[in-house]
Order: sequence, then C-alpha cells, then structure tokens
Amino acid sequence: MSAKKILITGASRGLGLALAQKLAADYQLILHASAQTSFTTVPPGSQLLCADFTDAEQIAAFCRGLKKEHGDDLYAVINNAGMAYDKSLIYQPEQEIDAMLSVNLKAPVMICKTAMKIFSLKHKGVIINISSVVGETGNAFQSVYAAAKAGLVALSKSLAQEAAALNQGGSIRVLSVSPGLIETDMTKDLPEAEKDRYINMIPSRRLGTVNDIAETVAFLLSDKAAYINGSNIQVNGGLR
Ligand SMILES: NC(=O)c1ccc[n+]([C@@H]2O[C@H](COP(=O)([O-])OP(=O)(O)OC[C@H]3O[C@@H](n4cnc5c(N)ncnc54)[C@H](OP(=O)(O)O)[C@@H]3O)[C@@H](O)[C@H]2O)c1
Repeated sequence: MSAKKILITGASRGLGLALAQKLAADYQLILHASAQTSFTTVPPGSQLLCADFTDAEQIAAFCRGLKKEHGDDLYAVINNAGMAYDKSLIYQPEQEIDAMLSVNLKAPVMICKTAMKIFSLKHKGVIINISSVVGETGNAFQSVYAAAKAGLVALSKSLAQEAAALNQGGSIRVLSVSPGLIETDMTKDLPEAEKDRYINMIPSRRLGTVNDIAETVAFLLSDKAAYINGSNIQVNGGLR
C-alpha cells in the first residue's frame, strides 16, 4: 500500500464513503465524520478523526489534530463534508444559516489553511474541495448553501495561485469538483416529481451516482492530472 495519506471529510456515508471505498487500495485514509458513531462502514486500516463542523472550537481542534498526527505524510485533502437546510431565506433561522456557512465554507477554509501550511513545507500536495452545481447556477431555497459552495470554487482558484506564489512552483494543486444532482442521503427525500423534473433538465437523463464523482476525484488526485490546477471540474451530466 502507498504511504500517501489523504483526508476525506464527511466519509461516513454518501459521496465521502464512496470516495473512501474507491481510494482505499491506493492511499492511507484519514476519515472524518461529525462523530465516531456516524460510521457504520470503515475500510480496513483507515484512521478516524471526528469533529462537528458547526462548532468553531471543534474545527480548530480537528485542524490541530490533523497537523500533529498526520502532518508529516499528508498528501491530499478532500473537503467533502456538507449539509443543507432547504428553505426560503426569508424563513431561514440564523442558526441554520450559521450552520450551513460553518460546515460548507468555514471548515473547508480552516482545513485548507492547515493543509497549505503542511504542503508548503514539502512543496507538494493536493486539495480538492467538493462544491456543487448550485454554486454556479444558484438554486431557489438553497441560497446560503449555494453561496457557500460558490465560495469553495473561488477559494480553490485563489489558493492554487497563492500556492504557486508562495512556493515558486506548481506542485501544490488546488481544485474544486462541482457535482450535479447525485443519489445520496442529501437527495433521497426529494419528491419523485421533483426528481423527474431535474432528470428532464439533465442532458444525460439520469441522476449522478457517487461512483461518477469518485472516479473523477481519483483521477484528479493522481499524477495523471498533474497539469490540472485551479480548475472547477463539473460532473453533472450537463445540468445547467
Ligand atoms: N448529493 C448531491 O446531490 C450533491 C450535489 C452536489 C454537491 N454535493 C456535495 O457533496 C458532498 C457530499 O454530499 P453527500 O450527498 O454525500 O452528503 P450526505 O450523504 O448527506 O453526507 C454528508 C457527510 O457530511 C458530514 N456532515 C454533515 N454535517 C456535518 C457536521 N455538522 N459536521 C461534520 N460533518 C458533517 C456527514 O457526517 P455525519 O454522518 O456524521 O452526519 C456525512 O459524512 C457535500 O459537500 C455536498 O454538499 C452533493
């Protein structure tokens, strides 16, 4: 097994779990969820590092733990944990707004900060931030979630440039991946009529699978993608 270590946040289910299962053969995994009890399946040999990303102190402790325990051989970070409360902004409680900004934007920013420090010492590393199609298109009743996801695209583009400026070279890559509508817990409660409406808007005429995204992320992590940097990769079946 390769000694390269990668962190996957939100790896207890959905896309994060699929990423862990896909990448387990090639990397040493550090898997995150909001709590240890969230995990029902863990690829053998994985290490767990848990934190509730709605809590700033837990984010800070998570970042300290990441640097202390895994800083020496961290190769990549996949900021995948995410959550949404779908609601009109007019009726959205501030607590939900804060939670969405914290999980979807603040935590990835702080983890990127930690990863950039680690990678700058080694002049090498990959960061992949999982954004969303709605970060580009917007979506009614997802305004705060969409704003946070758009923030991840700008964060990734900026850090790719910053890494090159600080390290005089391009061996630290920072990317975002924007999935379309993917079949996971996040979309399981969509009414069938709503799913059908989306499917009619998707040129590939189906929802995405976690494997569609995992294949893309695996490629982006590899040296085959060495010249892809600062990009937002859309994996959405053509959904606009
Ligand atoms: N599904 C889609 O259609 C879709 C489309 C575009 C983008 N995305 C993005 O893709 C990523 C994965 O989505 P998914 O569909 O796989 O989601 P999911 O099945 O709902 O899983 C979400 C993951 O995020 C973690 N998480 C949620 N709240 C957290 C918190 N407060 N603190 C720490 N971790 C927390 C969860 O951990 P626990 O199990 O501990 O709660 C879980 O591991 C997200 O960033 C999402 O925004 C999804």
